[in-house]
This record gives sequence, structure tokens and C-alpha cells, in this order.
Amino acid sequence: MWIKQALLVVLVAVAAGGDQYHPEELQRSATQRVSEAFNTNERSPQFWIDNFEADLEKRLRNIQNNKVARNVIMFLGDGMSIPTQMAARTLKGQRENRTGEETELHFETFPTAGLSKTYCLDRQVPDSACTATAYLTGIKNNRGTLGVNGYVPRFDCLASTNQSTHLDSIAAWALADGRDAGIVTTTRVTHASPAGVYAKSANRGWESDADVNAAGFSTDICPDIAMQLITSSPGNQLKVILGGGRSQFLPNTTTDEEGDLGFRQDGRNLIEEWQNEKNRNGATNQYVWNRSQLMSLRNSPPEYLLGLFEADHLQYNLQADKVTEPTLAELTEVAINSLSRNEKGYFLFVEGGRIDHGHHATWAQLALDETIEFDLAVKKATELVGDDTLIVVTADHAHVMAVNGYTQRGRDILGPSDDLGGDGIPYMTLSYTNGPGARAQVDGARVDVTKENITDVEWRSHAEVYRSSETHGGDDVVVTAWGPHHHLFTGVYEQSHIPLRMAYAACIGPGIHADACSSAALLHPLSLLYSLVLAVMYHTVQH
Ligand SMILES: *[C@@H]1O[C@H](CO)[C@@H](O)[C@H](O)[C@H]1NC(C)=O
Ligand SMILES: *[C@@H]1O[C@H](CO)[C@@H](O)[C@H](O)[C@H]1NC(C)=O
Ligand SMILES: *[C@@H]1O[C@H](CO)[C@@H](O)[C@H](O)[C@H]1NC(C)=O
Ligand SMILES: *[C@@H]1O[C@H](CO)[C@@H](O)[C@H](O)[C@H]1NC(C)=O
Ligand SMILES: *[C@@H]1O[C@H](CO)[C@@H](O)[C@H](O)[C@H]1NC(C)=O
Ligand SMILES: [Zn+2]
Repeated sequence: MWIKQALLVVLVAVAAGGDQYHPEELQRSATQRVSEAFNTNERSPQFWIDNFEADLEKRLRNIQNNKVARNVIMFLGDGMSIPTQMAARTLKGQRENRTGEETELHFETFPTAGLSKTYCLDRQVPDSACTATAYLTGIKNNRGTLGVNGYVPRFDCLASTNQSTHLDSIAAWALADGRDAGIVTTTRVTHASPAGVYAKSANRGWESDADVNAAGFSTDICPDIAMQLITSSPGNQLKVILGGGRSQFLPNTTTDEEGDLGFRQDGRNLIEEWQNEKNRNGATNQYVWNRSQLMSLRNSPPEYLLGLFEADHLQYNLQADKVTEPTLAELTEVAINSLSRNEKGYFLFVEGGRIDHGHHATWAQLALDETIEFDLAVKKATELVGDDTLIVVTADHAHVMAVNGYTQRGRDILGPSDDLGGDGIPYMTLSYTNGPGARAQVDGARVDVTKENITDVEWRSHAEVYRSSETHGGDDVVVTAWGPHHHLFTGVYEQSHIPLRMAYAACIGPGIHADACSSAALLHPLSLLYSLVLAVMYHTVQH
């Protein structure tokens, strides 16, 4: 072993080629060298010309679509940074036995992409609550606050009782127009991102009354997020609510179907209250807690559907009990089947919420797998909806995972880099600038993590600065769009513009609307004929 190390030191020392920023790759040991994995056709310049032309053809067919968006589906990959997208697409390709880097996630094939700036009012690097407020209400606010404007400081219950600070989300705009709305998530349905659809709270952490009480406030003044979902608008108008978080809805004396205790101190069973209210209104409804119940009503869901599949967040896909737990694609399918019964259309929010959690733990493999699952849900949606549906896919914020150099083409994205540190010790292609994966040095040297069990899904990649939870990142995130007015989502813009652009395309909400909204009559075949005739007459007169 020491002979190898000594050899490496010599090799490092003679790495004299290149420039100081890009030394030639003499550091790689012979045992690490692999044969070229890529498709050898790629050596031919013609390969790249053909590759471009196939893409251009698609692009030209897709330039604009100025129709009204009857339906809007927003897909939110929580913490899905640009490096996460690159690494997930590579993993997807490698699982299909390809080199990987050239693979596309389904949503990356959408005709339009842009970048959103994610900072919130008081923070350079945001959290999921202020970002949810931005991308659902169009207004930026303070970190940790939900559905209230920037006059409400975090934890200030009293300030949030001022009604004029309350913000409506795009779900409320859709409901006000007679459309339906719903939420789907892999987290607790009371967690920050889905709560952005319906809650107004000075603190994202006030998910049940136990949290509000612990902060020294009364739920009479600042109702908890679960209570808001079940008892006030727009939460109580949602046709589908699918995710986790049963404990927030049950008394602390009640055990749920899987044996977990509720958290509530007010003795209220909000699941039963939800059912009773729908019954009082004569609306068909069902509460489900496992996958087989969900799948049995897949094609004919009741008017109102509440599905809570875990006491807490849903399990990571790679660790989930597939018997009790549906996939995000399955949840999305049922939600679309439910909402598409409304002739006027709908707004659906779908969150892949555990990408973020994988990253916080520096469990890169889980974060990437959750991203692939999220992409499968997007793919399912594009198969189910027509060309009157706008689909927008984005992230709320980035993370601090980096894709390190200089790994050879086609090498395991979850494996070590082909290069070594200046200390002669390997490092991983994917690592973090901070997080629980930081390791203390041993005998004054960095630990060689490649000797650990790096294939374990709960193996933590290494990090520079120790923190019990890795942080979000402040970089921009990608927005991709498909369907009516997709072209609006190009450019580099404030995250808060996203719901206003969606509302513009869908003719809902308080802002500016597309031309097609006022001339919706144009959609009628006869008036279309009429305007064609006018256009021909005008054209003839011009000559
Ligand atoms: C990839 O290759 C392995 C080993 O040859 C094989 O078992 C597996 O089925 C292949 N997977 C795909 C998706 O082709
Ligand atoms: C209520 O909030 C608005 C901002 O939304 C602020 O201008 C106003 O002063 C507040 N009123 C009170 C009584 O604090
Ligand atoms: C349950 O709620 C009651 C109030 O209803 C409270 O006194 C008690 O401490 C709670 N129990 C737990 C385990 O939190
Ligand atoms: C799903 O829930 C139903 C209703 O509670 C129950 O009868 C069934 O056994 C459950 N299925 C599983 C796999 O736990
Ligand atoms: C490494 O992790 C994998 C996946 O969790 C597991 O199957 C294997 O037993 C582990 N190997 C060792 C040596 O711990
Ligand atoms: Zn997070």
C-alpha cells in the first residue's frame, strides 16, 4: 500500500504539463484507467451535426402556443439544483447501461427553459416557505413565513393576524374562477411547499396545534397549518390532498392505522372533521391511508379525496414498502383523473419533496433517485393531459452538492472521481461543501472515503464544513415549461414571476392575462372561420 502512495506522490510531483489551473492528468494511477466507455460513433463530427438537426426539428415545431391554458400543473422538485439535474440524468442513463451524461430527464425535453432567482426578502439563500410563497402567490416574503407578505417577520403571530398581509395563491385564483385545485407531495401535506398552496402562517413549523402552543401562542389567533388545510379556504376546497403527515391531524391519544400516535393537543381528529364536513355538504369523499385503497379508486375517485400514507413524510422510494406506499407517479395519476372532471379546468401542485431531504443528509444516491421518481411523475402527467394543459417544472432552491472533476465519461456518477486530491487521496465525483458527511482528519490526513461502503443508500458523501444538516444553496434553479404559453418561461427572472406567468396563460388571478383570454370566443370554430375570412379580405385589400 505504501509503495502505491509513494508512487502517487512522485507522479503528482512530475505533473508539470498544462497550466497551473488545468494540470495534465498525470495523477491518475494505471489501475484507475478504464477503456473509453462512450459510443465510438461520437468521434465522428457527423454525429454531432445529426444530433443538432434532430433537436432543431423538434424546436421549430414547438416555437409558440398562444392558446388558453385550461389546466396548469406545477411540478416542484424540492432542492433540485442544477448539479442535481445533471447527476440524476446521468444516473438514469447509467441504470439503463448507457454512459449517462447524454441522457435527458423527461422534463428536460420540454421546449422552453429559463432560470429563476430564488433569494427571499431577508435571505440570500432561501428556505422552502418563502420560496413557496414566491412561486405560488407572486410575492417574495421572509424566510420561514408562508402566505403572508414581507410585513410579517418570522414567528410574529400577532403581525400575521393582520388580514391585509394575507396572500392568495394561484390555487385560490383557480378556485375563484370555478376551476378545481389539488396538492400531491411526498412530504407531510402540512410541510412548507404544499402549505404554500393554502396556508397563511408566520412560521412554517406551526404544523399542528402542539407547535403553536409550544411557541406560546393560541390557535384561536394563529391557527396551525393542518387546521387551516381542513377548516378554511382554499384548503377545504381542494379536491385532492395526497401525501404524508397523519400525526398533524390526529389527537395525541389516537394511534393511526400504522400504529403511530397523533400530535394534536386539542383532541380534534381533523381527518374525521374533513369527512363530516364533506358529508354535510352531500359531497362524495374518501380518506385513504394505503396504496391498495388508492389504486382501487384510481379511475373513479370520489369528489373529494384525502390520502395520508404515512404519519410523517412518505418513505424514500428506494426504502419504501411498495405494498402500502404509492409512487409519486401513481399519486399524480389519481390527482389528474380527479381534477380533469371539471370542464373549466384545474390547478394541480405536485412536489417531489424528498430530493431536499436526501441532500440535507448528504445521501446523494437517495436525492438522485427521488429526482428520477419526480421525473417519472412529470412523464405520467404529459401522457394523461392534452394540449390545453400548461406544465411547469422547477425547483424552489439549490443545494451545495457539486459535481467534481475530472471523472471519465461513463464512470459511475455515484463513484469516486478518477483524479486524486493534492494529498494523493481520492475524492467522490459528488460531494458537498457542508453537511453531516464532513469527517475529522485521521493522523493529520483526509480520510479515504472510497474504502467505505459507498454503495449503501445511506452512505454520506463527504463535506468540507461539518453541519448536522447540509444547507440549501443560493444558485438559480431551472424552470422548464410545456403546453400553452410555454415560451413565457424563458429568460432569467424572479421566482415570484412564475405564478403570474402561469396565471397569465390560464386567464386567472388578479394580474395581466393573455390576449387569448379576452378573445376566448376565437376558440369557437365558427368565429375562427369568421376571423379567417376577415384576414383573407384584409390581405386581398392590401394588394
Ligand atoms: C444492464 O446490464 C446488466 C448486466 O449486464 C443487466 O443485468 C441489466 O438487465 C441491464 N439493464 C438494462 C436496463 O438494460
Ligand atoms: C397591516 O399590514 C399592512 C401591510 O400589509 C400594513 O401596512 C399595516 O400597517 C398593518 N396594520 C396594522 C394595524 O399593523
Ligand atoms: C397530549 O395533549 C394534552 C393536552 O390535551 C397534554 O396535556 C399532554 O401533555 C399531551 N401529551 C403528549 C405526550 O404530548
Ligand atoms: C389498506 O387499507 C384497508 C382499509 O383500512 C385495509 O383493509 C387493507 O388491509 C390495507 N392494505 C394493506 C396492504 O395494509
Ligand atoms: C454495503 O451496502 C450494501 C447496500 O446497503 C449492503 O448490501 C452491503 O451488505 C454493505 N456491505 C458491507 C461490507 O457492509
Ligand atoms: Zn431543505
